[in-house]
Amino acid sequence: MSKHNYANDQYPGPKSAELLQRKQQVVARGISNSTPIFIDSASGAMLQDVDGNSFIDFYGGIGVLNAGHCPKPVVNAICEQAEKLIHTCFMVTMYEPYVTLAEKLVSIAPGSSPKKVMLANSGAEAVENAIKFARAATKKSGIISFECAFHGRTLLTMTLTSKVKPYKHGFGPFAPEVYKVPSAYCYRCYYKSSYPQCGMHCLEKFERFFAAEVSPESIAALIVEPVQGEGGFIVPPKEYLPGLKAICEKYGILFIADEVQTGFGRTGKMFAIENWNVEPDLITVAKSIAAGMPLSGIIGKAEIMDAPEPGNVGGTYGGNPLSCSAAVETIKFMEENNLLDRAVVIGDIVMNRLKLMQEKYPVIGDIRGIGAMIAVELVKNPVSKEPAKEITSQIIAACFKRGLIIIGAGIFGNVIRMLMPLVITDETLTKALDILEDSFAEVLG
Ligand SMILES: Cc1ncc(COP(=O)(O)O)c(C=O)c1O
Repeated sequence: MSKHNYANDQYPGPKSAELLQRKQQVVARGISNSTPIFIDSASGAMLQDVDGNSFIDFYGGIGVLNAGHCPKPVVNAICEQAEKLIHTCFMVTMYEPYVTLAEKLVSIAPGSSPKKVMLANSGAEAVENAIKFARAATKKSGIISFECAFHGRTLLTMTLTSKVKPYKHGFGPFAPEVYKVPSAYCYRCYYKSSYPQCGMHCLEKFERFFAAEVSPESIAALIVEPVQGEGGFIVPPKEYLPGLKAICEKYGILFIADEVQTGFGRTGKMFAIENWNVEPDLITVAKSIAAGMPLSGIIGKAEIMDAPEPGNVGGTYGGNPLSCSAAVETIKFMEENNLLDRAVVIGDIVMNRLKLMQEKYPVIGDIRGIGAMIAVELVKNPVSKEPAKEITSQIIAACFKRGLIIIGAGIFGNVIRMLMPLVITDETLTKALDILEDSFAEVLG
């Protein structure tokens, strides 16, 4: 990156401004842009726009770039694969990278049960198919998902999602047989209790739920993000995920871990669920699996994955050769560069800094996270916890002006989440945290 324009720049520059005007003429306005810039190139944890301005990336393509932008071995693998073969459709004529990647995924997936894989294109497609596997295997239809969940934007995944605006409002009717329960969002506990004195009402609630709402015999699966991502990086207490698994086992309900955002090293483990020592029946993966190439997958216990008849599941592009080759190299790159350990180190640096900031800025109501998946929740008052949505947007905008791209989350839009590439250097990380702190100072005076 040639130039670092960190301060006092006016964005967008002339080339981005012109492109923005062109975009507005022809791209549906629902496809919004939280910054007004167009990116030309990127490397590691740095982005460069078409006007030559550099930005530190603290959002990683929304959790897609744990291995950084354009890691060389991944770029080489994509180029080599493109020279040989771009597409056949795996369901007609097959190719090795699909199988090689599936072998790798079953070897690293948590738990000792034999596993199988299906590859697809997006996180939503992986979730849709996980539900199909679960329904085919159990011959039941009901699905439980959680408040504050995000599982995608297709009809079923939007139904499973729990943030009304902007994801659901005006897009109904929704898919049937989806039941929502509160999640373990301790900072805003649904039952107004506090952990650990609460006795885990959020788990106890299930007995009543099964009596009052739906019988467990009609539930095929429960789908849960080990750490709720879009919902605001909500990390459950240690008893929660094992408790959910026990409920699933008691009633013959399949446990689906949606690892689309938490996966691939972000939390210091390859799969976040490993932090809780739970073996899911099905796992959905996407985002950082292939360093930005569109790829997703479902990894599940072999007997569940073999429940649909041949031809019952699939898709034209799923497990495209370029994406599979990229994923095989991405996983190797993460292993060889110890990015899981690096996630823990980054997490410690960021947490320590945020705790110091919280002493100065009571607007930081909660700091939470695991590994390098860290967020702050901003409130107008630490006692009333009224969400500080506007301040959150102002701080994100102030960061951008200083050269740091960071994004929000949370059902109230008052969370700032951090998803920096795990290849970020200590120097860039410190610079980014300085910018974040300066932005708090600017907005809060
Ligand atoms: C947990 C989770 N599941 C599913 C999805 C949907 O993925 P995609 O946007 O690739 O369809 C996302 C996207 O953010 C996600 O965070």
